[in-house]
Amino acid sequence: MNLPDLNCAKKRTKEEIKIIYNDYSVPESMKNIGKNKKYFVKTYGCQMNVHDSENICAILEDLGYTESAEMEDADIIILNTCAIRENAHNKMFGFLGRVKHLKESKDIICGICGCMAQEENVVEQLKTKYKWVDIVFGTHNIHKLPYILESALENKRQEIEVYSIEGDIYENVPVRRDSKYKAWVNIMLGCDKFCTYCIVPYTRGKQRSRLPEDIINEVKDLVRDGYLEVTLLGQNVNAYGKDLNINYTMANLLEDVAKTGIQRVRFVTSHPWDFNDEMIDVIAKYPNIMPYIHLPLQSGSDRILKLMGRRYTKEEYLALFNKIKEKINNVAITTDIIVAFPGETEEDFKDTLDVVDTCKFDSAFTFIYSPREGTPAAKMENKLTEDEKNKRLYELNEHVNKYANEANQKYLDKIVPVLLEGPSDKEGFLMGYTDTMKLVNVECDEKYLGKIVNVKITSIKTWSMDAKIVD
Ligand code: 5AD
Ligand code: SF4
Repeated sequence: MNLPDLNCAKKRTKEEIKIIYNDYSVPESMKNIGKNKKYFVKTYGCQMNVHDSENICAILEDLGYTESAEMEDADIIILNTCAIRENAHNKMFGFLGRVKHLKESKDIICGICGCMAQEENVVEQLKTKYKWVDIVFGTHNIHKLPYILESALENKRQEIEVYSIEGDIYENVPVRRDSKYKAWVNIMLGCDKFCTYCIVPYTRGKQRSRLPEDIINEVKDLVRDGYLEVTLLGQNVNAYGKDLNINYTMANLLEDVAKTGIQRVRFVTSHPWDFNDEMIDVIAKYPNIMPYIHLPLQSGSDRILKLMGRRYTKEEYLALFNKIKEKINNVAITTDIIVAFPGETEEDFKDTLDVVDTCKFDSAFTFIYSPREGTPAAKMENKLTEDEKNKRLYELNEHVNKYANEANQKYLDKIVPVLLEGPSDKEGFLMGYTDTMKLVNVECDEKYLGKIVNVKITSIKTWSMDAKIVD
């Protein structure tokens, strides 16, 4: 049994990161274990978790399981968790309640993985109060799932395998992609920024970039398989390559990915600190790099930014924002903002509103600060009442929504390209995203599925737009 340890996760050494190409296999005894059985994977959190779940699904299919649309019909249920805020905990324990109920009437296997499995206190609870959970594994050893499952089945007891290591890179882990048209591609794992509120550097380990050739080859394979869009994933993509010491940056990678001929290139998430001019120039130069940038602000107050450990000031953020707007034609910029960070005064909060009023973001994800055990900010005093926190979030959202709506209104009657990726909730419509990441429901025939088409925007809703195909 290997248990997570936050103190151990905090230590970063100069030890070289290993890239391991051939560590995935299925033991003989497990090859048909899932025959005539079904799996259900529930995913919380960010795109990286969504992509990890694509690996988990592929592994379960290698074991012979097939996917079930309903949890109630599954023989193995895996919960891929997120640890970024406290409500993630509530979601997981709520979900476990439902699984336990099922387990009482049927012989099923339950597994917990993802970021919460990297948290000491969570694992402690699973060990003591949720002994019926069969397997617990972390973010570093998904490819070992066949062996973890084998041990649990053989020993008939809870199997916990979570490593607080800085992390290596495992290539060639199988993947069962959710979409036939757009794909997630990890370019780097972990994070070394250690923003004081954030649990990610502990749960996902040290920043480590995949080799450029491994990424480019993956994208070339996707092009060959007919994929139209890739999203390059990392907690902090602008820092790509810094740990490789090969003089190859995110700007180089973006350029090489664009040159594969894939029709759409996206990337998340950017940190303002590492966003350099070369990157902006490359995005502006290549029409297949989408004019959409998610640029987390977190706070508009220099004092709070410092306490958060964000390494930029309000002025520096605004200068970068303006440069991006100036150089990249038709760019949409979205952001993340946290309110009620410990010590945030009314004046600090007004600074945040001020940046929102200046930038008029296309949209923003807004959060009330949530203390995460083991992070530096969790020890800072926070005097704000729940009422004050909620009021700030409400006021911020009023500003954010106003500008999001204004940005959307500009699309009315415009002709824009959309990748039609799936059925819409509305009958007779398909859904997809513009190059600037606006959600559009297009009234059209099924034959347009999986195509990038020009559409004319006919009406604007709060969170989406309606459109018609243009000949
Ligand atoms: N509390 C609230 N929001 C957080 N985020 C990260 N950690 C916390 C936390 N402890 C937000 C940040 C980040 C987004 C993914 O989640 O805004 O950009
Ligand atoms: Fe968390 Fe900061 Fe790293 Fe983003 S950059 S994952 S907010 S520590």
